[in-house]
Amino acid sequence: MTGAVQDKATGATPVVYGASDRPPRGDYSRAALDYTCPQNYAAYTSADHETYRRLYERQETLVPGHACDEFIAALPLLGAKDRIPHFDEINERLHKATGWEIVAVPGLIPEVPFFTLLANRKFPCTDWIRKPEEFDYIVEPDVFHDLFGHVPLLFNPVFADHMQEYGKGGLKAHGLDSCELLSRLYWYTIEFGLIRQADGLRAYGAGILSSPGELRHATESAEPNRLPLDVERVMRTRYKIDSYQQTYFVIDSFQELFDKTAPDFTPIYERVRQLPELAADAAD
Ligand code: PHE
Ligand code: FE
Repeated sequence: MTGAVQDKATGATPVVYGASDRPPRGDYSRAALDYTCPQNYAAYTSADHETYRRLYERQETLVPGHACDEFIAALPLLGAKDRIPHFDEINERLHKATGWEIVAVPGLIPEVPFFTLLANRKFPCTDWIRKPEEFDYIVEPDVFHDLFGHVPLLFNPVFADHMQEYGKGGLKAHGLDSCELLSRLYWYTIEFGLIRQADGLRAYGAGILSSPGELRHATESAEPNRLPLDVERVMRTRYKIDSYQQTYFVIDSFQELFDKTAPDFTPIYERVRQLPELAADAAD
């Protein structure tokens, strides 16, 4: 990223591993040293609430038959659909379920604070919402993507544990200069993962779940490659942030995701660095 946003504690610049020609738009002066801020609820206009309501309504109708069962079961726990929810309301339920809580942030944040929050079972949610002209497509995560896409699965105990392990693994990867390899795993699982369930292929990745077009593309189109999850294969694979994915990685259960990411990645990073990278559309 070309971000002008500096790490509050260390002076580091936040990193996004993809092309971006402008800095993130959030107001980072609101944030504390750990990058969290109060959810600026008073700043939402009635047009903002209406954008959320419309996004939720459209996406909710697409979820049956495309999203995984665990997501569908937990979606109502987000609460309000006709306005942007208060994070505190969700946290009452979420904390009881899995010990996670969501915290507001002004937008994308640097790696170390991001991993630190996850390692402490805190999920950073951007608090602002897209403008009506970005209804179908937005290049940065907003409150709709973060809540609708990411939060329902934090109610699932296995997935919730995996997210914490990812945060701890991120801090470790940072020390090994391997964050870019680890970020590919995040991309192809937490953002764009597919899961095979009794009645077919379903989405669990937040980038799919919050996108009307990609929900169908990912689960139904004959075009993309669909490969079984393989950590090394994922780490070698570049990704695109400005189009539907050309390759998806499929798991059979969240336990599989947890187990396949449990080994020490230190030697894996070393090995992957010796191997050629693969294009986003490489078929094998
Ligand atoms: N097992 C990884 C490591 O040793 C950490 C990790 C766990 C990464 C879960 C991603 C997801 O570095
Ligand atoms: Fe996301």
